[in-house]
Amino acid sequence: MADIERVASGIPGLDDLIEGGFWPKSTVVILGSSGTGKSTFAIQFLMEGIEQGEQALYVTLEEPPEQIMREADLMGFDMRKYYEKSLFFIHLKGRNFKKMIEEQLPQLVKARADYNIKTRVVIDPMTPVIWATAEKLEQRELIGKLFYTLKELGVVLCTVEEHAKPGETIGEDVLLPIYLSDGAIHLEYYPIGGAFNRTVKLLKMRGVHHGEGVYPYLFARGVGIVVRSSPSHIPEEQSRGHSKTFDEAIKTAEAMKAPARVVERIKKMQKHWDYDYSPEEALQILFSSYGLKRGG
Ligand SMILES: Nc1ncnc2c1ncn2[C@@H]1O[C@H](COP(=O)(O)OP(=O)(O)OP(=O)(O)O)[C@@H](O)[C@H]1O
Ligand SMILES: [Mg+2]
Repeated sequence: MADIERVASGIPGLDDLIEGGFWPKSTVVILGSSGTGKSTFAIQFLMEGIEQGEQALYVTLEEPPEQIMREADLMGFDMRKYYEKSLFFIHLKGRNFKKMIEEQLPQLVKARADYNIKTRVVIDPMTPVIWATAEKLEQRELIGKLFYTLKELGVVLCTVEEHAKPGETIGEDVLLPIYLSDGAIHLEYYPIGGAFNRTVKLLKMRGVHHGEGVYPYLFARGVGIVVRSSPSHIPEEQSRGHSKTFDEAIKTAEAMKAPARVVERIKKMQKHWDYDYSPEEALQILFSSYGLKRGG
């Protein structure tokens, strides 16, 4: 199994916790209450694939594609550029997605699988599928079928909304997708202020020796979620603008011959950085997630 290539998550810092990435053709649940960053995670995951020449399939149940792309735009992701080229949407409207899941989806997947193109799939949010029926057995069948069908294409990442408060046990309604998936990642938000009041925990990851801690994460516009997987050494905070920190990071990245898309990311991050804390840590994590070692 060691020679099977992992699928990079696209979340700086996360792959260090899961031995390099997700298993191909696996299913992963992103669990979290509203606003924890599930959609951000999902979009980041898709964009990582797209930028590497893969294709992306976004299964949406509530928001139309236009709205998703508009919101992504605000977070610094230019999805439009790839729309209907390498990024495709399936908008499961109305109540009858049961039929869609059972009949249309398998046909669609079969048609695509023939092309043998690496594809990433996102179902965001998956909650309406769970609520499509109150019958536990039927729920299980529906989710199982959805996973089974889409997994043929590549990694399937789905988001599930959680209603419990931080620290409480996970609600029964979200246990089913966790149970049926290969991996589950829990995002939590503690509204207490400060830079790191958001944490990520790996609930399960089949066949992976994963990190077992609770890891802080932050948002960086243009990049998305950045996970602090290990304490990183941050050079003495100098009294200078963050802009200079970015300028130097860009110079360093260019000197290291970092891929153009990484430099682009940093530039985007700079453009949007309006936090009062230093971007140093986020940059550090970003660099190392692309295998770039910044000299101390
Ligand atoms: N770059 C950023 N800087 C600060 N906050 C951000 C950034 N990007 C996203 N957020 C915060 O994350 C929140 C929502 O992110 P996202 O839509 O990914 O969450 P979600 O878990 O999908 O929410 P929902 O359950 O409502 O779908 C936004 O309300 C915003 O406050
Ligand atoms: Mg969302």
